[in-house]
Order: sequence, then structure tokens, then C-alpha cells
Amino acid sequence: MKKIGVLTSGGDAPGMNAAVRAVVRAGCEKGMEVIGIKRGYQGLINGDMELMDLRSVSDIINRGGTILYSARCLEFKEQAGIQKGIDSCREHEIEGIVVIGGDGSFRGARDLSLGGIPCVGIPGTIDNDIACCDYTIGYDTCLNTIMEMVDRVRDTTESHDRCSVIEVMGRRAGYLALNAGIAVGATAILLPEFDYDIEKDVIERMRRTQKTGKRHFIVIVAEGVGGTEELARKIEKELGVESRAVILGHVQRGGTPTCRDRVVASQMGYRAVQLLEKGIGNRVVAMQHEQILDFDIYEALSMTKSIDKELYDMALEISI
Ligand code: ADP
Ligand code: F6P
Repeated sequence: MKKIGVLTSGGDAPGMNAAVRAVVRAGCEKGMEVIGIKRGYQGLINGDMELMDLRSVSDIINRGGTILYSARCLEFKEQAGIQKGIDSCREHEIEGIVVIGGDGSFRGARDLSLGGIPCVGIPGTIDNDIACCDYTIGYDTCLNTIMEMVDRVRDTTESHDRCSVIEVMGRRAGYLALNAGIAVGATAILLPEFDYDIEKDVIERMRRTQKTGKRHFIVIVAEGVGGTEELARKIEKELGVESRAVILGHVQRGGTPTCRDRVVASQMGYRAVQLLEKGIGNRVVAMQHEQILDFDIYEALSMTKSIDKELYDMALEISI
């Protein structure tokens, strides 16, 4: 391929810039023209794009967000929108695209590939909810941000003998909640993947720890579980522990990417360009057991992954 595009789509994630940088640098070094497409599929449809060079991606490896901007383009979920995307590629002579985003973005990449524009997906989402990957770009930074934020909340929780019920992001997935919960030593962790009984899994656990002398508590609730404010009120009522609900929100999605996110993003961006260079599309780059692999997009979208029950059980046993 002589001319490729790169776009970021769906929720932004720290490390996306490092992936964009790798794509642009690898593409340029392989003698390709690399087009930066703005605001995901919306920019593709609108022709909002520009030629990038080696220097366009200087000083971005350390920055969160995405210099290409991102969007959730509803039009692209319809055949007419996809056709506009294909037409735009033809008009701008873009032969292949690297799509950095989550599985919604991969569906778009699959549709474009089907329409004759080979695409390679790179998993970029803080949620770590992409089945073919152990690890997605942004996940590590987000976990570290949550840990740091909860450590701060903990100082005041402890000073006031309170309980802080903290809701973390993850959409329908509990990977962030489970791992952050372990890292902060939460007394209870509620995940959408496992059934829970508030009485037994939160109130009783807290009661047991109270008997051992514990006076302040952190409870982590995954966004996919919700009910954070109500839970804080219930804890206060049943245990007499003053409680606060804390919804961490979008602070979790920003900030400078960790070393791990920068390295993995660089590796994935490089692999994506290697594939397009060979004319190979309809692939998703993935990380499994620390190896960079790639899968057919159809195959990747039909895979499932489960959350580690043993890890969850361990967390409960040692956080009492
Ligand atoms: P993520 O990629 O983070 O999972 P979304 O699910 O919001 O985020 O998807 C991002 C974008 O991918 C959507 O705004 C849309 O442009 C595109 N997309 C999502 N689902 C589809 C689909 N079924 N077919 C084509 N494109 C899709
Ligand atoms: O997918 C990333 C994510 O931050 C989820 O964790 C969260 O559910 C969602 O995006 C929030 O989306 P928005 O930025 O549109 O509020």
C-alpha cells in the first residue's frame, strides 16, 4: 500500500497517541503516505483529514487523549454511512486504514474491509473489554489513575472513620473494578459479571471487619453494577458508619499514559502497519500472554473472555 489512514474512534484512552505515532512513523519509514483522519468515522465521512509526517507525531507519546480526536459516529452504524466512508477512501485514494478503538470501532473496520478497504483494528479502551485481548491500550493507565484517586479518598475516609463507596468506569465490564479493588484493598468489590447479595457481600463483610477493629472502609462498585449512592445510604443505615458515594467519572480516562501503555501501543501500531504493508486487512491486533498477535476481525468479534473468578475470590479472602 502506498497511502493509508489512521483514526481513533469511540471513547478515548491514554496511549492512543503512542499508537498513532507508531503508525505514522512506521508508515512513513516504509515509504507510505499516512493520512490522519479526524474524529473517527465522522471525519472519514466528512473528508476531515490531513497528511501526516514524521514530525506531526513529535511530542505526543507522553500525552493522554488523542490528537486525532474521537467520536461516536452513529451514521457509521448504517449501510449508507459505511458506503460514504468507502467512497471517501476512494476519493482520497486511501488504500487501508488503522482503526484504534473498541469493538464497536472494529465492527466499522470489518464493514469497511468487506467493502474493499482493508482495515486493521488496534484495541484502545480503558475498559479492557475486548475478547481477543488480555490487554487493551489505556487500561493500565486507567488502573493506576483509579488507584491514585482512591488512595486520596482513603486519607479522608480514614480521618473521619467513614465508608467510601467508589464507582469506577468499565461500561458493562468489571476488569477495572476488580483490579483496582485489589490494588486499594477494598473491603467489598461488586462486579457485573458475578451475582452479588448486598447483605452478605457488603454489609456482613463490613460487620465482620468492624468486629476486628476496622473503622474505615473502601467499597468498589463497577459502573455496570451502579446503585452507588443507594449503597452508601444503606451502609450508613444498617451499620451506622457515615458513608459517601464517590463517582470517579472521566478523570479515569485522562492523563499521561504509563510506560506499559506506551510500549504496547507502539508495538500494536507497528504490527498494524506491517499487516497493511503486506495488503492484509480485516485483522485485529491483540496481546495474549505478552505476545503481539493478530486475528481475523470476524473471529475476534465472536470471541468471549471471562473475568478471573480465582482472582476475585482471592481479593475477598485477603481484604477482610
Ligand atoms: P467503542 O469502539 O469504544 O466500542 P462504540 O461502540 O461507541 O465505541 O463504537 C465506536 C464507533 O464505531 C461508533 O460510533 C460507530 O461509528 C462505529 N460502530 C459501532 N458499532 C458499529 C456497527 N455495528 N457497525 C459499524 N460501525 C459501528
Ligand atoms: O468505554 C470507555 C468508557 O469510559 C466506559 O468506561 C464508560 O462507560 C463510557 O466510556 C463513558 O462514555 P462517555 O464518555 O460517552 O460518557
